[in-house]
Amino acid sequence: MNQFPQDASSTVLLNDGHRMPWLGLGVWQTPPSETAQVVEQAVEIGYRAVDTARLYKNEAGVGKGLLAHPDIFVTTKLWNDEQGYDATLRAFEESAHRLQRDVVDLYLIHWAMPQQGLYVESWKALIELKRQGRVRSIGVSNFTEDHLSRIMDATGVVPVVNQIELHPFFQQKELRAFHKAHNIQTEAWRPLGKGAILGNDVIAQIACKHGKSAAQVILRWHLQNEIMVIPKSVNPQRMAENLDLFDFALDAEDLAAITQLDKRDGRMGADPAHPVF
Ligand SMILES: NC(=O)c1ccc[n+]([C@@H]2O[C@H](COP(=O)([O-])OP(=O)(O)OC[C@H]3O[C@@H](n4cnc5c(N)ncnc54)[C@H](OP(=O)(O)O)[C@@H]3O)[C@@H](O)[C@H]2O)c1
Repeated sequence: MNQFPQDASSTVLLNDGHRMPWLGLGVWQTPPSETAQVVEQAVEIGYRAVDTARLYKNEAGVGKGLLAHPDIFVTTKLWNDEQGYDATLRAFEESAHRLQRDVVDLYLIHWAMPQQGLYVESWKALIELKRQGRVRSIGVSNFTEDHLSRIMDATGVVPVVNQIELHPFFQQKELRAFHKAHNIQTEAWRPLGKGAILGNDVIAQIACKHGKSAAQVILRWHLQNEIMVIPKSVNPQRMAENLDLFDFALDAEDLAAITQLDKRDGRMGADPAHPVF
């Protein structure tokens, strides 16, 4: 049973028995040359998890920044051109090497890429990596209900998380209900809508009412909906702001007002059913 997070070090109990922080630092578009310093700074101010990927080209910076912090939870992801059983095993070794970790906390398939037809084989490789003890937990990202059903039916292994685009303009209620039914933890990427939602009037009014920033209201909305968050920032002040979420609570009226902001066409990134890059 998960309790509501009390601070930035609070963790979620995953379906494989391991625990993962509710809140982490995202590093997509964090310049590789600055990543080690950004990550070190993040740990100093209280972050306990970092989300990277082969795609971001900054796994080495994450590894360097966390050398003195082996206890910080690290997630990385398999990129699309590395899918397939053997290719996935090789790609993992390269990511682990760049991260300077023998064991990675969480490894995700970044996108199912249904047009490639390789994600079930890739999932089997992740299961093998877990069996070998090279990864503590395995999960997916940008999987639809259909993709999730296929890997679960083929292997009987349920991913611990599905990391998906999720923010007040794109709330993914149906997929979240599916996750809940299968004990898959929902993790939001682009939790702040990449800044686009920060100027919304409804969010601004709620922020004013609580004496908090728009970003803090949005992140608190995620947490109160049991959604893990990985906001990205390279700015120390904003990094600290995004952690400072535990001295206020949104009430039922606030939550209902934010629920109203959901839009059918609110998606900002690629469609996982037909991803094009
Ligand atoms: N699995 C996937 O396919 C996938 C896709 C996209 C992202 N992700 C992951 O999710 C993480 C977060 O997503 P994201 O980077 O797309 O978007 P985001 O975290 O929603 O927004 C980041 C943007 O908001 C700004 N920002 C951060 N905190 C702020 C604050 N308190 N006030 C005002 N502006 C603020 C940042 O600028 P500054 O840096 O200048 O502060 C940056 O431009 C990524 O870093 C990555 O780890 C995963």
